[in-house]
Amino acid sequence: MATKLETDGDFHALPDLPADVFTAPLKKPAHLGGDWLEPKQAEYTSEDHAIWNDLFARQMDILPGRACSTFLAGLQKLNLARGGVPEFAQLSEELEKLTGWSVVPVPMLIPDHVFFWHLANRRFPAGNFIRTRETFDYIQEPDVFHDVFGHVPMLADPIYADYMQEYGRAGWKAMRYNRLKALGALYWYTVEFGLILEGQDVRAYGAGILSGPAEAQFAVEAQSPNRIMLNVDRVMRTDYVISDLQPSYFVIESFEDLYHQTVDRDFDRLYRSLPPAFTYANSAVIDVDDVLHRGSQEYLLRGGRGSGALPV
Ligand SMILES: [Fe+2]
Repeated sequence: MATKLETDGDFHALPDLPADVFTAPLKKPAHLGGDWLEPKQAEYTSEDHAIWNDLFARQMDILPGRACSTFLAGLQKLNLARGGVPEFAQLSEELEKLTGWSVVPVPMLIPDHVFFWHLANRRFPAGNFIRTRETFDYIQEPDVFHDVFGHVPMLADPIYADYMQEYGRAGWKAMRYNRLKALGALYWYTVEFGLILEGQDVRAYGAGILSGPAEAQFAVEAQSPNRIMLNVDRVMRTDYVISDLQPSYFVIESFEDLYHQTVDRDFDRLYRSLPPAFTYANSAVIDVDDVLHRGSQEYLLRGGRGSGALPV
């Protein structure tokens, strides 16, 4: 992301958004300030806590042998198995000691530039609300379970924590080049749906995989999806699926590898050469790929979610 040496990146206060940058027209609730933060975390009912506990138990049945060791260590370090929706203040105190991060409550998805600004300041905005029994298996908006269970344990790792901060700083650069879509693909294929090699085995570190019931098995073991070693230039040109399992996953060697592949890169040069639209379909395998597993794409070819296709 090559932002470390920049002098235009003072993120102490929320920088002004350049006038020519387009952002999604999200309507800010009247009681929030420019940082979009709730004054305090929601108070959860006993049913909310029970939903958290049931989601937690379901994931802990699925994740051993599929989640990466860094994630499982993060869960332990932060004692996330203590039961009930965690208190952000307590989590932040523990994270602060480990990596200097905190967790802050937001009511909904927040604008990109505000999200990037929080990351650049080592604050992770987490959804304040929790899903219901009706939306137990899938919700479109990230709730407190996705955000805290999926993302926060990874922030207990110092290198990953640095990567997330640099990502936030890089967001502001991408906005200036109008290439948020490309940077969004990098987030998608790393922070949300990333895989990592542990010895010969592939394990998940992406929050979208770790917080859902079906994707851990599919991403790590199924025959359908491609598993390709991460190449940042290629990933930033690759389309992705928002509401179904991914046709391709990208695999890193280590978090040091992820950090250096991104932070050491000349993003000004990359953005100048990137077309505004994606070049590669989400199921494509291309010449430069270092392919670990070439997927059959059977799940996608049978119609994916909604068709009754098995995630094989
Ligand atoms: Fe997420």
